[in-house]
Amino acid sequence: MTFMVTFDFSKSGFQDGRLASFQEEVQKSHEHLERERKTKAVGFWDLPFDAKMPKAVAAFADTAQKRFKTLLVLGIGGSSQGLKALAPVLDPAGFKPRLQILENPDPAAANACFENLDWKTTLVNVVSKSGNTVETLALFEECRKHLPGKDQIVVTTGDNNGLLCKWAKKEDLTFFEIPENVGGRFSVFSAVGLLPLAFAGADVMALLKGAQNGAGRFQTALLKTNPVYQNGLIHFLTDRSGKNISVLMPYAECLEEFGRWYAQLWAESLGKGGKGQTPLVAVGPRDQHSLAQLFLDGPRDKIVTLLKFEEDRKTTLGSLLHKEYNATAEALQEAGVPVVGVTLPKRDGASMGELMIAYEIQTAFTGHLMGLNPYDQPAVEKIKKRIH
Ligand code: PA5
Repeated sequence: MTFMVTFDFSKSGFQDGRLASFQEEVQKSHEHLERERKTKAVGFWDLPFDAKMPKAVAAFADTAQKRFKTLLVLGIGGSSQGLKALAPVLDPAGFKPRLQILENPDPAAANACFENLDWKTTLVNVVSKSGNTVETLALFEECRKHLPGKDQIVVTTGDNNGLLCKWAKKEDLTFFEIPENVGGRFSVFSAVGLLPLAFAGADVMALLKGAQNGAGRFQTALLKTNPVYQNGLIHFLTDRSGKNISVLMPYAECLEEFGRWYAQLWAESLGKGGKGQTPLVAVGPRDQHSLAQLFLDGPRDKIVTLLKFEEDRKTTLGSLLHKEYNATAEALQEAGVPVVGVTLPKRDGASMGELMIAYEIQTAFTGHLMGLNPYDQPAVEKIKKRIH
């Protein structure tokens, strides 16, 4: 394989085999994950290997591209954030104006988007696993006031009792299914992410190949050969020792939304029963001039992950980014702050596929180490119920 995301734990404080004594706990969490995967209780592992969905999505996108200039995606949380993370990496303009994404039912933002659309050449993709999310349904209601025809709607939802599913079936709309065993924040490799990316013209197969590569590499029970389990364990142990903030600081503007995707995954999966490490997103070197003072000289309650692209080494500005990354890593280490380094080969789909599956596996694994269910979000549901 030419693409490979690498992890550097040399500044984490856990070098020199300090993790080896945890192999038994790691084995238990690994077996938990394996059981879920094999019994199909949890399906995010299988998404990159699904041969049917990418074909169906590609065929749909091919036809849609001939008729429509814009795809407007309506979704929130896990139904939008994966796409938002990928778009700016795969295309510096985030595929705009071809791809538009609305999440919040903010009247000013919605109107600003609507005013610039040519509704005759706009296709609307409503995305909601439950099919009942009030923000998404409200935005959809607004769109329907403008849309000339129902053949300009494509629905991505669970085959469940949700309002969206029932309505899509009743109206015989084009419908892409989110598998029952895939939760919102783990759904980026389903039609949730793939359909808009295919419409935008991204190389969906490269993304999936990267994810397949990661699913293979990061599935081994042996801690010393599995950097994703090592990273999960390091975060688990630092959290236990009072470092309950996990900073993710990419040295690339295009990874800022990936940071927000990570923040959702980490917070919503692991913030339960009084436990959980608070995720915080920073962007280097910009936030060296803002948050780094606190990271270096504030409370010692953080673990910091720095990300960079290997290919940036080749350009003048990119090599400056690398120097800044190294300087920050060294300064943090000197200040006694644990640092994890992650290097992605390129700003491309293969790198992102591997990175995103790595973090999905790490989150599920860490959830089991913590003794909680990483796939539900009972507290979020409490807010949802109060809105209806
Ligand atoms: O990860 C999750 O399950 C959540 O963040 C959901 O994606 C979010 O609440 C949106 O839900 P839905 O996809 O049902 O509209």
